[in-house]
Amino acid sequence: MIKIISAISILSSLLLGVDGYEVYKKNCASCHIEIMKKAEMMKKFSTLKAPPMIQVALRLKENIIIRNEDEDVHRHLFMLFVKNYIENPSIDYIMCHPQAIDTFGVMKSIKGLSQEEKEAVAYWIYDRYEDVDFE
Ligand code: HEC
Repeated sequence: MIKIISAISILSSLLLGVDGYEVYKKNCASCHIEIMKKAEMMKKFSTLKAPPMIQVALRLKENIIIRNEDEDVHRHLFMLFVKNYIENPSIDYIMCHPQAIDTFGVMKSIKGLSQEEKEAVAYWIYDRYEDVDFE
């Protein structure tokens, strides 16, 4: 299943000509570190600008719950949330840990990305942290 999904995401990024990882590196990586261990995060907390992307991804995945456990649907809803959040971050539907909001504040809106770029980066975030633990 996961293999099929990553094949689809690679294929769609080729078709759209947008590489989600490149979008991440250009637009998100300056605040969201790609991967780190929980203990390392605690140590470096005061130097961070935002929660690491691994934490963001796993928390969203956990919080977005669908009844029939269809992974494609789950991935699609995750993508829609992230795609919207990039341009319209809001305290009204934030899923972040309250402590992170106290520390970092609400994310600022990022404008200027195309629909394709937002979708590609959101799918990249979903797939990047499949079978990865944050501990
Ligand atoms: C200038 C710093 C900054 C940049 C750049 C940035 N973010 Fe964030 N982001 C934050 C902060 C701070 C938070 C934690 C507070 C919040 O959830 O709004 C956050 C939280 C998030 C969340 C969690 C929302 C939730 O409800 O839990 C997502 C998803 C997210 N960012 C996606 C992205 C993506 C995708 C990009 C790149 C396209 C990006 N961010 C770029 C600062 C940033």
